[in-house]
Amino acid sequence: MQENKRGSWGSNFGFLMAAIGSAVGLGNIWGFPYKMGKNGGFAFLIIYLLLVVFVGIAIMLGELALGRKTGLAAVGAYGEFSKKHKWVGYLGVISAFVILAFYCVLGGMVMRYMMGFLLQILGLDSFVGQGSGFFGFLLYDHGGMLFFFGLFMIINMLIVAGGVQKGIERFSMVGMPALFVILLFVVVFVAFQPGAIEGYKFMLKPNLDVFSNPEIGFLGVLKAAAGQMFFSLSLGMGAMITYGSYLSKKENLQRNALIIPFADTLIAVLAGFAVMPACAAFGVDYGGGPGLLFVSMHTVFEKMGNFGAFVGFLFYFLVFIAAVTSSISLLEVCTANRVDKAIAKGKEPNRKKITFIYGAIIFIVGLPVALDALGSGGSAIKAPYEILGITAGDVAAGFRVWNDCWLDLYDAFSEGVLMPLGALFMSFLIGWKYKPSTVFDECEQNGNKFRGKLFFTLCFKFVVPVAMLFVLWGQVKDFFF
Ligand code: PHE
Repeated sequence: MQENKRGSWGSNFGFLMAAIGSAVGLGNIWGFPYKMGKNGGFAFLIIYLLLVVFVGIAIMLGELALGRKTGLAAVGAYGEFSKKHKWVGYLGVISAFVILAFYCVLGGMVMRYMMGFLLQILGLDSFVGQGSGFFGFLLYDHGGMLFFFGLFMIINMLIVAGGVQKGIERFSMVGMPALFVILLFVVVFVAFQPGAIEGYKFMLKPNLDVFSNPEIGFLGVLKAAAGQMFFSLSLGMGAMITYGSYLSKKENLQRNALIIPFADTLIAVLAGFAVMPACAAFGVDYGGGPGLLFVSMHTVFEKMGNFGAFVGFLFYFLVFIAAVTSSISLLEVCTANRVDKAIAKGKEPNRKKITFIYGAIIFIVGLPVALDALGSGGSAIKAPYEILGITAGDVAAGFRVWNDCWLDLYDAFSEGVLMPLGALFMSFLIGWKYKPSTVFDECEQNGNKFRGKLFFTLCFKFVVPVAMLFVLWGQVKDFFF
C-alpha cells in the first residue's frame, strides 16, 4: 500500500508486529518478572491475567478504534470529538515524553550489557567475572551512561524518522520474530539447567500467601499488577491511538485488539519462564526488585560456565530489540502529533526534523535519570530524596519509591498518574460521551459483526474507570502517606 503524507501500515501483519513490538518491552522482560518476584509469584500472575481480560482488552480496543476512526494521533483524535477534549491527548504526549526519558536510559544500559558479553565472546574484554561490581561501576560511569543513552536515542530517531512503513514497520517485522525465536531458545536452554524447577513452581504452584503479608496484601498485589498491565500493554497514553490511526479500514480491529494483549502476555510469561528458573538454578534471588535484569541476570550468565557469555549476549540482544520497538512507539506518539498539526495547517510535514527535535529535547529531560546513579547517592546529579533533604532509607522522614531516584520519580508520574488518568478519561469519554457504539461501529467497518457488546459496554462504563481510580489512589497514597 502506498504511504500517504501521514503514513500507513503496509499490511495487517506489519501493524501487528509494530503494535506487539510497542507492547512487548522492558515492561515484559524486566518489570513483569521482578514485580512477580516481589508480589508472590502465582498470586500476581492470576491477578495480572484477570486485569488483562477485564480492563486491558477494552482499553486496547477503545484506543485502536479512536485512532482508526479519526485517522489522527492522540491530540487530533480527541480533538475530532471536541476541541475541549484535546488535553486528554496532550496528557498522552507528556506521558510519552516522561517515559521515554527514563526508558532510553535503561535501553542504553541494556546495550552496555549486550556489548559487554559481545566483547567477552570476541575475547576483547573480561565482562564475565565482574559480577555485581559492574553495575556499581556503571552507575557512576557518567561518560559511559551518556554515551549509551545517546546511542539508544539516536537509533530511535533514525527509525522513526524513516517513517511509519519504512522505519517502524520494517524494523518491527524483522525484530519481533527474531525476539520470539531467541526468547524460546533461552527458555529451553534454561529449562535444562539443574534446579530450574523451583522457578516454575514459584510461578505456577497455587499459593496466595502474599495476600496475608501485611506489607503487600491483596491491594498491594492488585496495584502492582494494574500498573504493570497497562504499562506493558502501552495503554493510556496514546500509543495505540497513534498506531491505530495508520491502520486500514479493511482490517479486523476487534481481532487485532485481542491478539496484541494475548501476545504481550504470552511473552511476559515466557520471560518469566526464562528469568525465574534461571535464577532458581543458579541460586540468585528473584525477589530483589529492579536489579533483576542487570545484577541478577548478569550473575546468572556468569555462573552458567562456557555458554554463559553467548546466552548472555543473546538475552540482552533480545531485551534490546524489545526496548527499541517500544521506545519508537513512544517517540512516534510525539512525532505524529506534529505531523498531524502540519497537515491540518496545509503544510508539508517534515517528519525528520520533528523527530530529531523531539529526540534532542527528550535526551535533555533524561539527563537526571542517567546521572543520579539511580539514587545510590553522591552522584553528579542529586536524586530527588537528596534534593528534598531526606536521608536514604529513612521511610519515616518520607523516603519512598517515587523519590529514591529520578527514574522512579518519572516512572511514578507516568505509570502511576498520567497513564491511569489517560485511561480513565478515555474510558469515561467512550462509555458516557461518545458512547460505546462509536467503537463498535468502527470495528464493524470491514463488515464483520462486533461480538460482546454488553461486555465491552460494561468495561468502558464501569470496570475500567473503577480500576483506574483504584490505581490512582494507590499512587497518591504512595506520594503522601
Ligand atoms: N509497553 C512497553 C513495555 O512493556 C512500554 C511502553 C509504554 C511503550 C507505553 C509504549 C507506550 O516496556
